[in-house]
Amino acid sequence: MRPEHGLFAYEGFEPEQEKLREALCTLGNGYFATRGAAPEAEADEVHYPGTYLAGGYNRLKTELAGRVVENEDLVNQPNWLSLSFRIEDGDWFNVSTVKVLVYRQVLDMAQGLLLRTVSFEDSGGRRTRVEQRRFVHMRHKHLAGQELVLVPENWSGRVQVRSALDGRVINGGVPRYRQLSSRHLRLVMAKEVDAETLLMEVETVQSRLGVAEAARTRLYVEGHRAEAQCRLIQEEGLLAHEFTVEVKAHERLGVEKVVALYSSKDPAVSEAAMEARHAVKWAPARFDELVATHVQAWTHLWNRSDLDLELAEPDGTHRALRLHIFHLLQTVSPHTLDQDAGVPARGWHGEAYRGHIFWDELFIFPFLNLRLPALTRALLRYRFRRLGRAREAAHEAGFRGAMFPWQSGSDGSEESPRVHLNPRSGRWLPDETWLQRHINAAVAYNIWQYYQATDDSEFLYFHGAEMLLELARFWASVAQWNPSLRRYEIKKVMGPDEYHTGYPDQPEPGLNNNTYTNLMAVWVLCKGLEVLRLMPKERREELLESLELEPSELAHWEDVSRKMRLVFHEDGVLSQFEGYEQLQEFDWEAYRARYGDIQRLDRILEAEGDSPNRYKLSKQADVLMLFYLFSSEELKELVERLGYPFELEMIPKTVDYYLQRTSHGSTLSGVVHSWVLARSDRPRSWKLFIEALQSDISDVQGGTTQEGIHLGAMAGTVDLVQRAYTGIEMRGDRLHFNPNLPEGMRRLKFSLRYRKHLLDVEITPETLVLVSRWDTQGPLKVAVRGERHLLRPSETRRFHLSQKPSWEAEGAGVSPQG
Ligand code: BGC
Repeated sequence: MRPEHGLFAYEGFEPEQEKLREALCTLGNGYFATRGAAPEAEADEVHYPGTYLAGGYNRLKTELAGRVVENEDLVNQPNWLSLSFRIEDGDWFNVSTVKVLVYRQVLDMAQGLLLRTVSFEDSGGRRTRVEQRRFVHMRHKHLAGQELVLVPENWSGRVQVRSALDGRVINGGVPRYRQLSSRHLRLVMAKEVDAETLLMEVETVQSRLGVAEAARTRLYVEGHRAEAQCRLIQEEGLLAHEFTVEVKAHERLGVEKVVALYSSKDPAVSEAAMEARHAVKWAPARFDELVATHVQAWTHLWNRSDLDLELAEPDGTHRALRLHIFHLLQTVSPHTLDQDAGVPARGWHGEAYRGHIFWDELFIFPFLNLRLPALTRALLRYRFRRLGRAREAAHEAGFRGAMFPWQSGSDGSEESPRVHLNPRSGRWLPDETWLQRHINAAVAYNIWQYYQATDDSEFLYFHGAEMLLELARFWASVAQWNPSLRRYEIKKVMGPDEYHTGYPDQPEPGLNNNTYTNLMAVWVLCKGLEVLRLMPKERREELLESLELEPSELAHWEDVSRKMRLVFHEDGVLSQFEGYEQLQEFDWEAYRARYGDIQRLDRILEAEGDSPNRYKLSKQADVLMLFYLFSSEELKELVERLGYPFELEMIPKTVDYYLQRTSHGSTLSGVVHSWVLARSDRPRSWKLFIEALQSDISDVQGGTTQEGIHLGAMAGTVDLVQRAYTGIEMRGDRLHFNPNLPEGMRRLKFSLRYRKHLLDVEITPETLVLVSRWDTQGPLKVAVRGERHLLRPSETRRFHLSQKPSWEAEGAGVSPQG
């Protein structure tokens, strides 16, 4: 990685930007994450330190407007960052009260480090330089550390350093949730272990999740252990060591704080506090030793995950893509394999959406499938472990099979809030988003894509097939036969567009025949039938027997998969749902003129006493999701299976129709729209891509990123480069390439995993070079612009893209056609 593309730097301290920076500078390792808050800061208007354990949830009840609501939240754990200093009994360091001479904060993505340099002058005229580094260890998942180096530039004297574990934290990171209960932790124990070690244990009040943190703080002057006095400070919920030390001008005072975090749910431990204490005791003596192994782990991860690109006019694109990969790997990493956690829509970077798991996996798994497929498998198993809850939910709602929740947390129950606050109107409103049953197609799609990428028949055998069959069963039971139309219908659901929750004239929420949902249901049914054919006879019989699947039920699936209703507009455009065509056109220009930013039309219209349900407008891609997930051939097959005509010209017409009517109120929207335009309108696609790339960096939604990153858009943008611009598809046991680089992209390079192969891919506008890296596997079946080839182990092959594909063999010589 070229260093300039691995650094994300901020110059100057900007209080109003600080919470955004904290989210974007979060460090994590898939097990836990800590926001990039200044170590001396406490939660206030400017700062919000937060530490979150992957999958660490707790439930609390709140009385709100006469009713009791219950939410399950990702819990903010004790703040281990807490580290401050003061000079000669002056004020504790506060960047806002000193004269700042230099302020620079750098996220070093290559090394997984957060760096801060501050030079300042205090009221006594003392100039001091401070350098800080921190990590959340990528190899030793329980460890984190920070270093503070203080250099007096024009003075000598006494410095006091305070290193604390702060258990007084609450969940206060999202202003909209402030009326909700937020005290999730109770203190179990806080004690000094020895003159350098503190230990604190807390427990969540409902889920009884125990979390222990141990902190070891050592001081050095000019690299040698310092003669420091140490004092213990113990206040309600706070435990600190205060060290006093003498330093001379230009000497380096180093403070190294190493922290271990354990939970009561960890495997291979006896008891969390005991382990935390043990871990800091046995951690390497010096900060740099830990940095070295941490950086090594990151280097290994980057080798598998990086993306190299060369643009005619280099801009921030490359760096932004790396930032997205970086945050993805901090949210899910090899440590996820041992963790019972899903992939949260907003990362473990803040409290937005309460750390819940949504359908955003659909945008995240494609990247992982081709890079670190073991992670997708682990995350699919998060769903599998909750299959029982999903079965109960289906049953309770009057359906069969399994119905996964729209928002999922600890045990797989539906965690969608039933009310939400419109900050514009100040009103608490019913939240109907749980009606997005389409998540049950996303789970099936994800299982299938993972299987395509890996050929992992063991996963399919033990987990995937069972989930797919239960999902097919669910969709078959949701579909209702309409005798007059002789079609099946799906009623009272919501599509991905969250601005349409129901019909304007009806009190009950829900829409009928959402095209995306109906067609995805058909696809799931087809895959349910196909997976049975794929299973070896013994397993097929076991599954049929244990799931009590009778031939008549399978015949019903087949019938539904051929007679599902699709609704079209008069001109052949696929309708978002039945009745959409009758809605009013929305006056986009007037609203843009009046409000400027109209992404959140739901809030704007509700505050006006109106509702998006009355208009032809969308928050995000809905029908167009189909063009994102399927190739035109696959879509044609699905639509024609139902006996409807499918004309290719319908695709651009439909894309155009919905693009004009979408406000992009979700960051996922830009990804999908950029994708569907990648071939037909490259400049427009690129523009949308760049916008999606900026979603978090520039906080385009005006304040949401500080509450957590948008992982779907982050992974989705990387995947756009990885699959859309390369035309990579996994079809029929073969890896297809059909590159179409955006204008201005001169070269794109990355490595990918496909079915036990490791492949280097390099694309320019003229050539595609594939290098099969491992020599232990048989040949790899590829197709380049439709032409089939076999790539031998260790073979390098160059394909010319300018005309009809041709190839020259290098290395291993000529290969036959696959
Ligand atoms: C979007 C959903 C998404 C959720 C979590 C919402 O704003 O409309 O599609 O799943 O955010 O990212």
